[in-house]
Amino acid sequence: MSGVERVRVICPLNDGDERTLADDVLDGLTRPFKELSPKHFYDEVGGELFDQICDLPEYYPTRAERSIFETRAEEIVAASQMAELVELGSGTAAKTMILIDQAAATGTLKRYVPFDVTEAMVRRCCEICGDRFEDAEIIGVVGDFERHLDYIPAPIDGEPRLVALLGGTIGNFVPGSRRQLLRSIASLLRPGIDHLLLGTDLVKDVATIEAAYNDSAGVTAAFNRNVLNVINRDLDADFDVEAFEHVAFYDRGREWIEMRLRASRAMHVKINAIPLEVDFASGEELRTEVSAKFTPQRLADDLCAAGLTLEKTWTDSEGQFALSLSSPTL
Ligand code: AVJ
Repeated sequence: MSGVERVRVICPLNDGDERTLADDVLDGLTRPFKELSPKHFYDEVGGELFDQICDLPEYYPTRAERSIFETRAEEIVAASQMAELVELGSGTAAKTMILIDQAAATGTLKRYVPFDVTEAMVRRCCEICGDRFEDAEIIGVVGDFERHLDYIPAPIDGEPRLVALLGGTIGNFVPGSRRQLLRSIASLLRPGIDHLLLGTDLVKDVATIEAAYNDSAGVTAAFNRNVLNVINRDLDADFDVEAFEHVAFYDRGREWIEMRLRASRAMHVKINAIPLEVDFASGEELRTEVSAKFTPQRLADDLCAAGLTLEKTWTDSEGQFALSLSSPTL
């Protein structure tokens, strides 16, 4: 490969961008209803806790999505003709590996672009994939997919690109920003050649959904609280992490899970790096995540609003999770 490394990492996050956490904390913790973005869960510890969540008996989405990949990888590769896979929020790429293996086996894989906020994860993923797919270019991008999609290299001339957003990550976005994100992802796709592969958790009985976010081992609680450890470490704050209680419930009207941290007593917290001082009343809740569940109709509507046409939907045998393939509306 002329001049450039076959395996490389693009890291657009500079010092200015490290303000992201500070900006989000300042904005979120001074609102009348306190809120933090779920993207800050994923430091090294948070990434490991999330991997543990994926193995929990109660957390069905990962297994359901993996089973779709196991049964449909060949169809997905055939329908998309993918030569390039761009994966947004790639993490450890455990499930995608099935798809990349399939594309590599059919000899069509030219390039894999894992994109994630956590630099260590991107680097590890590039190393593993660089060894495993010797004939492909591996270009990691470290960034926030709401802000840094521009750093993704241009597609390869004439070679179909598949952009994947899996695991139900799209559910972290409330309806307005969800459509905005889908629209900016759509701009990475060339009409008539490229596709989006989207993983969405589906609306189902409330008990199943709520159990997935209230596991008996307490891993989700630790994952939720970890965002306070991140703020303590990176912004020199003094949250008493154990004094916050994990709360997760399904909002039937909005059809989404909400995770919150509830102050078990009144607290005064100092966040020195901003600087900011925040008061919590006893019982006050801080929203840390929404995780939207989809109906087939909502999925089609959101895609349509973003200029995408739904081509195919695959679900697992229990109808818990959906993978959908869509393309720019012609
Ligand atoms: C990675 C956003 C898909 O919403 O289910 C898991 C994150 N939060 N348990 C989800 C999560 C609590 C997960 N996503």
